Amino acid sequence: MDIPVLTIDGPSGAGKGTVSLLVAQKLGWHYLDSGTIYRALALEITEKNVFEAGVADIVEVALAMDLVFECDEERLVILDGQDITDLLGLESTANMASKIAAIPEIRAALLQKQHYFKQPPGLVADGRDMGTVVFPEAAYKVFLTASASTRAERRHKQLKKKGIDANILQITADIEERDQRDRERQIAPLVFATDAIYIDSSNMSIEAVVEEVLSLVR
Ligand code: C5P
Repeated sequence: MDIPVLTIDGPSGAGKGTVSLLVAQKLGWHYLDSGTIYRALALEITEKNVFEAGVADIVEVALAMDLVFECDEERLVILDGQDITDLLGLESTANMASKIAAIPEIRAALLQKQHYFKQPPGLVADGRDMGTVVFPEAAYKVFLTASASTRAERRHKQLKKKGIDANILQITADIEERDQRDRERQIAPLVFATDAIYIDSSNMSIEAVVEEVLSLVR
């Protein structure tokens, strides 16, 4: 059976996570937040202190990682039996994730974990290379972005809501550094897939973006 896939790629802070989750709920489809997989690996290698050890060791950790997404009232992410949800949101985790995400062997090791999410009745996949590398066959593709200042403000609000004290200038610098690395890396860079629809969410409400994405599938 051909399982429909909707990919939503774009830079950090564009609203991909919120929109993808809402769209997946409305369609009754599965949801893959691929950034969380990279973030979880970043946490794991920091904890195990293997970043300096080399690529082969990181790949070993990536393949052994036991990652579970729980979706009851709250979205919880469990790594090797431990709830890591709160640690995932830290910008330091995101930065480490973006560093290891530029290494081809690590991307290859995480590919199967992502493919596994393609289950009936359908999948909404959010990330940087969902429509270009992981699910190039996807029937529906979106590139979701927003201006740099909007994205920094959104990230600032998100962190404040979680009780994390963050400086907007620092956030802007972190986001710019991470986006540049994601755009310029040799493997699976963040690019606009030519068969994707382009949405700039800078002046749009979440509901309006969700409607536009849903209209593509309907
Ligand atoms: O989406 P999120 O901000 O959680 O992603 C964290 C980092 O993981 C990104 O900056 C990017 O470097 C990496 N990533 C990736 N490919 C994906 C998803 C995330 O390289 N599909």
